[in-house]
Amino acid sequence: MQLPLRIAMVSAECAPFAKTGGLADVAAALSRILWKRGHEVRLFVPLYGKVERSGLETDPYLSPFPLSFPGWDVPVSVRKAPLPDSENADGVPLQVEFIHSPELFGREEFYTNDDDEPIRWAAFCRAAIEACQRTGWAPDVFHANDWHAGLLPLLLKSTYAWDELLRGSSTLLSIHNLGYQGVFSEDAIRRIGLGGVRDQFHQERLAAGAVNYLETGILHASWLSTVSDTYAREIQTPEYGHGLQGLLAQREDHLAGIVNGVDYGEWNPSTDPHLPAHFGPDDLLGKRTCRDALLDELGVAPEPSGPVLGIVSRLTHQKGFELIPDFAERLLDHHDVRLLILGSGDPEQESYFRWLRDRYPAKVGVHIGYDNGLAHRIEAGSDLFLMPSRYEPCGLNQMYSLKYGTVPLVRSTGGLADTVERLEDGRGTGFTFYEHTSVAFEDTLAHALEVWRDPKAWQQMQLRGMAKDFSWEVQVDRYEDLYAAIMADLQLA
Ligand code: ADP
Ligand code: GLC
Repeated sequence: MQLPLRIAMVSAECAPFAKTGGLADVAAALSRILWKRGHEVRLFVPLYGKVERSGLETDPYLSPFPLSFPGWDVPVSVRKAPLPDSENADGVPLQVEFIHSPELFGREEFYTNDDDEPIRWAAFCRAAIEACQRTGWAPDVFHANDWHAGLLPLLLKSTYAWDELLRGSSTLLSIHNLGYQGVFSEDAIRRIGLGGVRDQFHQERLAAGAVNYLETGILHASWLSTVSDTYAREIQTPEYGHGLQGLLAQREDHLAGIVNGVDYGEWNPSTDPHLPAHFGPDDLLGKRTCRDALLDELGVAPEPSGPVLGIVSRLTHQKGFELIPDFAERLLDHHDVRLLILGSGDPEQESYFRWLRDRYPAKVGVHIGYDNGLAHRIEAGSDLFLMPSRYEPCGLNQMYSLKYGTVPLVRSTGGLADTVERLEDGRGTGFTFYEHTSVAFEDTLAHALEVWRDPKAWQQMQLRGMAKDFSWEVQVDRYEDLYAAIMADLQLA
């Protein structure tokens, strides 16, 4: 491989600065490892109102520049802050480049229903492209993530087609979640200044009065990827394609599936600063301490004879927790288990879990909200981790669970199918079910409770899981190969 590659990572989220889900972890960790391997990486993220300002350079390294939209200019600058733990061989950290526009991004929420939402994300893509232009830096690949960066490939081919500098730049669009596509009224095309290339958008969609940013990216990116092999196949089917299956199937030759890695610097029970005790495969004692402390922290009764079941999740339709009410009371009436939930999202699910806690205060602990430290402690202090997802492009929590000796119980779909091996004949790392029904979920839980009664079998399963290595050091090779393939394609063209 030719070194170094020049990669411009364009992502709406980046841990620890701006995170609502796994995209933040992945954008940060992939950029970090590429940088550490000696590649030139630039990572662009919006500067939201919520981003902690203390580590930011006070002066923008580029003087403010205007982005012009029809009848409207918006000033943008770029401010840098070092990405934690990202020092390369020369001791230089990767600088995250924050797109600073108080007018567009200085809001509490990252994603809004405000009228200018389509403009915000067009502006984000343009600002990232212009930051490259204005520093005379031509990426080999613009790596755009999710619908927020979906317009970038078309913008390069249209608004910035004049620029020789960027002529050798290819584009990769990574789909982290097909459930979010960025669909707006077709009037957005004029408002973002792309009225001259209306013919480059999906015409049936336009005829229906809409524009879809993710779909536009799928049409125009040099290559596509998604975050597991199974999800790459699933999204070409009506069940998982969210209406884009036809288009994705047409681009199958340019669609790669690469399972996300785990940042074991951040998620490691032997060093995790969020835990009251540390542990590892050679000594699981500390896990016991973490479990006791967790039950205390969430205010449930100590010393259950059954397992502690943990959930850390966005509470959305995707994650499949609607199955739980069908059997929760039966489970809690008949078994001395604990159910611990950290999450937020759908108000109905939030209030259901609160109701369940009020009904079983000694057995159910609920924290509605976002709490990174508690997420780590639930991973460490639980025995079983529940992910009954309807669909799951990759999923990170099941991989964290494996590392923390917490056995995942998952619906076998997407990345969950690729990372959790079903317990069978004394092999396997977790419990899996396929049909998305409460019966299948409850049966699988019953199986887990049965295995729990055999501590030796349980511990062996824990240890098999802890031995798995999903580190980015392994997964990054596949990205390097993909970038190289994308660049080779361009040379052939
Ligand atoms: P998704 O991106 O679909 O939400 P992933 O499993 O890929 O799912 O990633 C979720 C990430 O967000 C994990 O790092 C998880 O720990 C974190 N997370 C989700 N909900 C919360 C919460 N309420 N508090 C803290 N961390 C959370
Ligand atoms: C998405 C998916 C999740 C994936 C994450 C990072 O939000 O829902 O499965 O792990 O992105 O790729």
